[in-house]
Amino acid sequence: MSVPIWVNGELYEPDKAVVSVYDHGLMVGDGVFETVKAVNGESFALTRHLDRLALSAKRMDLPEPDLAAIADGVRRCLAAAPKWPLARIRITYTSGPGPLGSDRGSAGTSAIAIVGEQAPFPATADVVVVPWPRNERGALSGVKSTSYGDNAKALAYAKERGGAEAIFENLAGNLCEGTGSNIFFVTGGRLITPTLSSGCLAGVTRALALEWCGGEEADVPISALYEAEEAFLTSTTRDIQPIRAVDGKVLPQAPGPVTLEAMKVFAERSAADLDP
Ligand SMILES: Cc1ncc(COP(=O)(O)O)c(C=O)c1O
Repeated sequence: MSVPIWVNGELYEPDKAVVSVYDHGLMVGDGVFETVKAVNGESFALTRHLDRLALSAKRMDLPEPDLAAIADGVRRCLAAAPKWPLARIRITYTSGPGPLGSDRGSAGTSAIAIVGEQAPFPATADVVVVPWPRNERGALSGVKSTSYGDNAKALAYAKERGGAEAIFENLAGNLCEGTGSNIFFVTGGRLITPTLSSGCLAGVTRALALEWCGGEEADVPISALYEAEEAFLTSTTRDIQPIRAVDGKVLPQAPGPVTLEAMKVFAERSAADLDP
């Protein structure tokens, strides 16, 4: 079944939903995005995702997005889509059509919402540490921008090596995040996730996991991951996914007791409140 796509306030059939070839989201990655989960046709944590979209746009000096219009677009797409057990809503917001170089144009921004079915993630993930660092001092550090070439390359690198997710360290040599996930690990019974100053994205799932399941934020050398007692990834579409192995080194337990408890609490709390 074809689900309509929302572009700048209107719903279109997928083959009629278009933006200009001059759109700077395409030309130079000058845009921001969000991935929101929908469960049985209901979005989860939409307010947090829209807030982060606005923050990413602000950090990129893009015009303020019309969040009410985008939220309405999301609702209209969801209403037209089947009530899939799990779906992914992709919101993209760019500076719009512009010149052939990096200068921004003045033709107006582009906003897009697309809903598609999402397969559940496997019970565990093997991760591969990539040789390229996240730049925690970069202009786009912590921004969910459409300039995701680094992530696309890193994920392909991990998959070529049998992994399901790639893990970045940062310029300081500390653990940072995945290409589309944050990371938590347990050492000496303590649950730890990198600080936001590590350059990781302020993940919605990371924030909810810290709030609901506990854990501390700390900057730790990437080597700590290999010695972890247990570890897990968090992201919108995975929730909490245990890590089985790091660069082929199998961790003692996946899921271990801390991860299992976090998964249980996260499932309960997220089912109880769809917009926490
Ligand atoms: C680079 C990066 N880090 C972390 C995450 C996890 O964030 P969230 O929990 O908001 O999905 C994502 C989301 O896709 C991401 O792209």
